[in-house]
Amino acid sequence: MVKNLARDGHEILTYDNLSRGHREAVLYGRVVVGDVGDRSKLKEVLRSFRPDVVMHFAAYIEVAESVRNPSRYYENNVVQSIRMLETLVEENIPNLIFSSTAAVYGVPGEIPIPEEHPLNPINPYGWSKLMVERAIEDFSRAYGLRYAILRYFNAAGADPSGRIGESHDPETHLIPLVLMAASGRRSHITIYGTDYPTPDGTAIRDYIHVEDLSDLHILAMDYLLQKGDNLVINCGYGRGYSVREVIEVARKVTGRDFPVKEGERRPGDIPYLVADNSRIRRVFGWKPQFDDLEKIIETAWRWELNRKF
Ligand SMILES: NC(=O)c1ccc[n+]([C@@H]2O[C@H](COP(=O)([O-])OP(=O)(O)OC[C@H]3O[C@@H](n4cnc5c(N)ncnc54)[C@H](O)[C@@H]3O)[C@@H](O)[C@H]2O)c1
Repeated sequence: MVKNLARDGHEILTYDNLSRGHREAVLYGRVVVGDVGDRSKLKEVLRSFRPDVVMHFAAYIEVAESVRNPSRYYENNVVQSIRMLETLVEENIPNLIFSSTAAVYGVPGEIPIPEEHPLNPINPYGWSKLMVERAIEDFSRAYGLRYAILRYFNAAGADPSGRIGESHDPETHLIPLVLMAASGRRSHITIYGTDYPTPDGTAIRDYIHVEDLSDLHILAMDYLLQKGDNLVINCGYGRGYSVREVIEVARKVTGRDFPVKEGERRPGDIPYLVADNSRIRRVFGWKPQFDDLEKIIETAWRWELNRKF
């Protein structure tokens, strides 16, 4: 996001407590280390920087961890976000873009999933994001904060220039895990759940390249700055791939074979998530650039072979 905002000539400040992030990933602009829930520190930053738009990415993001330790998720994702919202309102920050998730839908009753689908998360991570969505809507009604809520499906791929990419510890996302098995950094890849009600029994996800996801933030930002209405949008390509399909494409792209093991389902995982993306196509005239699993895996593979952090 920082890379693309800088490309477009925006001034950027990154605020992150670095609990799970990397300073090296911030290629441009100032970095301030702090909790989003630290009112006095955030206030000080907002007073000196005066952003037109805040993009709120900060959260813990692991579904299984949220099932084991819900309190950590409600504190970090909900309580801290609410403190942040209060601070934004106190400082008269006009526009907010929030990273939400397809996990707010729970087990979908229809595929592809439209934004109007009932919201019924099945894990604390999904609930934590839904609670923040609701708080943002209420803050907007009460205090006039304007917002775009972006419900990401599965963010994937890496910076095509190879400078930055995904790096979590522990890594729980499928594509980096598969590529770590292909490069030999891991001994094998485990498929969590082979008995889902899907054609090959493995879970299906709508993988969206981070570059396209980042462009959607820029479209949403421009839209808010031009006084467009508050917005809730699905961010996905509208097409799903199963875990086995991802593994096959990874074998093709990398030209390498690697051992695959089959394991139990992970608690809180949803069988099938694919976005109905007609709203972003209609509102923004959005045309994705990386809507191709091979391209996604190629960029992630370049990163895996030449990681900087
Ligand atoms: N990666 C995905 O596929 C995906 C899918 C749906 C939604 N999202 C959402 O997108 C956002 C970004 O996800 P990501 O994959 O880049 O995760 P990430 O863990 O790489 O980034 C989250 C960042 O937030 C920071 N952070 C966490 N809690 C903080 C706090 N209290 N104060 C300040 N900084 C804090 C971490 O240090 C980290 O840099 C999250 O809100 C996540 O819920 C991600």
